[in-house]
Amino acid sequence: MKENGHVFLIGFMGAGKSTIGRLLADRLRKDFIDVDALIVQKENKSISDIFSEHGEAFFREKEAAYLKKISGGSIIATGGGILYFSETLEWMKQNGTIVYLQAPFSILYERIFQDSNRPLAMTKSEASLKELYSKRHDVYSSAADLIVPTDCRVEESVDLIIERLQ
Ligand code: S3P
Repeated sequence: MKENGHVFLIGFMGAGKSTIGRLLADRLRKDFIDVDALIVQKENKSISDIFSEHGEAFFREKEAAYLKKISGGSIIATGGGILYFSETLEWMKQNGTIVYLQAPFSILYERIFQDSNRPLAMTKSEASLKELYSKRHDVYSSAADLIVPTDCRVEESVDLIIERLQ
C-alpha cells in the first residue's frame, strides 16, 4: 500500500465495491468513502435523478471532481464508470493503490439487474451490458495494481486484498 495513499476499489456494477470497501476500512481502521453516496449527498439528488435531469456527462464530471477532494489514506468505493476520463486514472495512480474487484458477468448481472438505483443497468439490455462489461474489464485490468476475485464470500475477498496490499 502506498504511504498515505488511498485504496481505490474499481470494478463493474455489482462487484461488491461498497460492501467490501466498508469491511476493508473496518479491518484496516481507515475511513471509508463511497463516491456514489458522496455525490448523492453533495448534490442532494439520487443518482437516477442526476442522470435523468442533467445527463451522464454531468454525473461523470461531478464523480471525478468529488473523488479528487477526498483526503488522503481512505478506502474508496468508486462507481463502475470512474475511468470515464483518462486523467482520473492518472490521478488515481498518483494517489493510491488501485484494486480491481473482478467477477464473471453472469454473477454481476444477477446482482444488479433489478436495481432501480443504477440508471445505466436499467436502460441497457443484457447484451449491451455484457458488451460494456467486456470493454470495461480490459480498462479495469490494465489500470489495476491488484486484481481480486469477488465471486466468493466477501470476507475472502477482504482477506485477499489485505494480504496483497502488504
Ligand atoms: C455506474 C455505476 C454506479 C453509479 C452510476 C454509474 C456505471 O455505481 O456510479 O449508476 O457507469 O457503471 P456502482 O458501480 O457502485 O453500481
